[in-house]
Amino acid sequence: MSGFADRSVLVTGGASGIGRAAAIRFAQEGARVCVADLNGEGAAAVAAEIGASAVWVQADISTAQGNAQMVAAALGAGGTLDVAFLNAGYLGPMGGFEATDEELFDRHLAINLKGAFLGLKAVHGVVADGGAVVVTSSTAGLLGLHESPAYSAAKHGVIGLVKASTPAFAAKGARINAICPGGVETPMMGSADQAIVTPDMLRRVPLRGMGSAQQVAEAALWLASPAAAFVNGQAHVVDGGLLSTFVPAPVGP
Ligand SMILES: NC(=O)c1ccc[n+]([C@@H]2O[C@H](COP(=O)([O-])OP(=O)(O)OC[C@H]3O[C@@H](n4cnc5c(N)ncnc54)[C@H](O)[C@@H]3O)[C@@H](O)[C@H]2O)c1
Repeated sequence: MSGFADRSVLVTGGASGIGRAAAIRFAQEGARVCVADLNGEGAAAVAAEIGASAVWVQADISTAQGNAQMVAAALGAGGTLDVAFLNAGYLGPMGGFEATDEELFDRHLAINLKGAFLGLKAVHGVVADGGAVVVTSSTAGLLGLHESPAYSAAKHGVIGLVKASTPAFAAKGARINAICPGGVETPMMGSADQAIVTPDMLRRVPLRGMGSAQQVAEAALWLASPAAAFVNGQAHVVDGGLLSTFVPAPVGP
């Protein structure tokens, strides 16, 4: 793949998992990468791993100020932003509808949905003609994840936001797409309630098992690349086939 030489790329959630893998891949393709994360130490470590072509910034995507900081860091001396991979997200405790209180719901909306909105607002003003934005949703943004209705609602919202924002980005000459990973082996899944990744779920994936951060990063890279020049305004599933077949959610004990 080519098309990222000297391009300026912002990756949020870049300290870990999918974002880390993507930041490294964009850099391998010649991009100047800004690794942004709430976890500044982690972002700094990934930037150090990449080397001179990377900068890092500690910022919170759930605030307008945090998003402004990220975009300013990505613009750097060059003053352009070609690609934004708005990927940071929060999974939180599982527990289903009854265990979801207002505070947990608000947290999901603040990070996963409002964070995406604020990211798009910050990027829209500066994205280059010919640029691309990829926002991370989830397969839980296309079907209900009964273990976390708040996460699922927020990730559904991300897809609506991306679709509805497509003309505004097209007016700037930029494309925007959502990416919807299925189960991916990252710290997010490791730190969450393991009940979400049961042997039963893994058996439902036609390609068997979980995907890797690298596999999702490759898809994000393609979506942001000139090779995807006519791919716009859609949600792209990267799930090993999980959503390809009808599987009823377990009900009851
Ligand atoms: N791992 C999966 O199975 C899976 C599946 C579908 C979607 N996703 C989505 O993929 C994205 C990346 O997740 P991951 O699996 O790589 O998890 P991860 O935990 O490895 O990475 C998420 C990163 O986001 C950062 N982050 C969280 N809140 C933030 C905030 N308010 N501001 C800035 N940064 C913040 C974290 O510090 C972390 O580095 C998320 O949006 C997640 O919802 C993951």
